Amino acid sequence: MKNIIDKLYNTKTLDDSEFVELIDCTDTDYLFSQAVKQRKKYYGTDVYIRGLIEISNYCKNNCLYCGIRRDNISLTRYRLSKDDILSCADEGYELGFRTFVLQGGEDLHYSDDEICSIVYGIKNSHPDCAVTLSIGEKSKDSYRAYKNAGADRYLLRHETADSEHYKKLHPKSMSLEVRKECLWDLKELGYQVGSGFMVGSPYQTKETLVKDLRFLEELQPDMIGIGPFLPHCDTPFANESKGSIERCLNLIAILRLMFPYSLIPSTTALASISPTGRERGILAGANVVMPNLSPNSVRSLYSLYNGKLSTGSEAAEAKNELSKLMQSIGYKIVTDIGNVKRNEA
Ligand code: 5AD
Repeated sequence: MKNIIDKLYNTKTLDDSEFVELIDCTDTDYLFSQAVKQRKKYYGTDVYIRGLIEISNYCKNNCLYCGIRRDNISLTRYRLSKDDILSCADEGYELGFRTFVLQGGEDLHYSDDEICSIVYGIKNSHPDCAVTLSIGEKSKDSYRAYKNAGADRYLLRHETADSEHYKKLHPKSMSLEVRKECLWDLKELGYQVGSGFMVGSPYQTKETLVKDLRFLEELQPDMIGIGPFLPHCDTPFANESKGSIERCLNLIAILRLMFPYSLIPSTTALASISPTGRERGILAGANVVMPNLSPNSVRSLYSLYNGKLSTGSEAAEAKNELSKLMQSIGYKIVTDIGNVKRNEA
């Protein structure tokens, strides 16, 4: 196994069969230590912090895994107004956040003009901040409009790079092809682009995971978000098993070794599956945390899966807790805007 890890460290890629072996690696001490070594070359012990604002849980899509899917009639729906969102950002700014991630279901209520005016509003009050959008599949013209309004980054997970697998996770109206098209459009428009996938989603195999890694090699994303699949009781996947934290951590380390420059969050799903998930993600090579800045009143409604970690703590408290946690494992939260460092090692 050591040979494979060394090869990945040195060449940043592997043969399919070597990736398959590494995905189930149990000698994780060496894997994680090499991932951490690679990350430290670019980012030292800095951990970037992003303020997540969950703007709406309305969604026109019906993804089989997701708790905010259209057909979930048990869920109380909400959407934040422009003023709500700007207040969240103002509060976050005071606390030292310099990136705001506006994430939501594919909510047709917001017109492109409204999204633009929200983005512009944040950038206008806080020109030293980055705005990241994560609001799903849109036309290239829409993406262009958001970019012109000031959006810097866009997160859109590809979810799985195997088109048959994609069909098993999504309704007929959705396709891997369209998802990939969106990601290429975003790249062409000059966004810093994030993609990623769930670990342990139903029907996933080690072979589909290798396809995920190959797709990311092609895309060369700036940010890569992965987290374990967790079932939601009001979805068709209610009785499916959750993903494995160990496999997720191995994949974080593998991604760090493939993309040393990248921004990889230790995700909420990882923190939700285990009380020590957040720190284990960092120790496997992640370098971003994304605490929730949404108003407390709506947090439980952004219910992608059951057991989603929601501390209920105010943003200030959450940031202090995370700072202490990171310090306890030898890392430090920084309030830098935290752009990707592609060529700095
Ligand atoms: N378990 C884990 N992650 C999920 N997501 C959606 N539903 C679930 C679930 N049940 C992830 C998807 C999406 C991101 C916002 O949350 O990967 O892109």
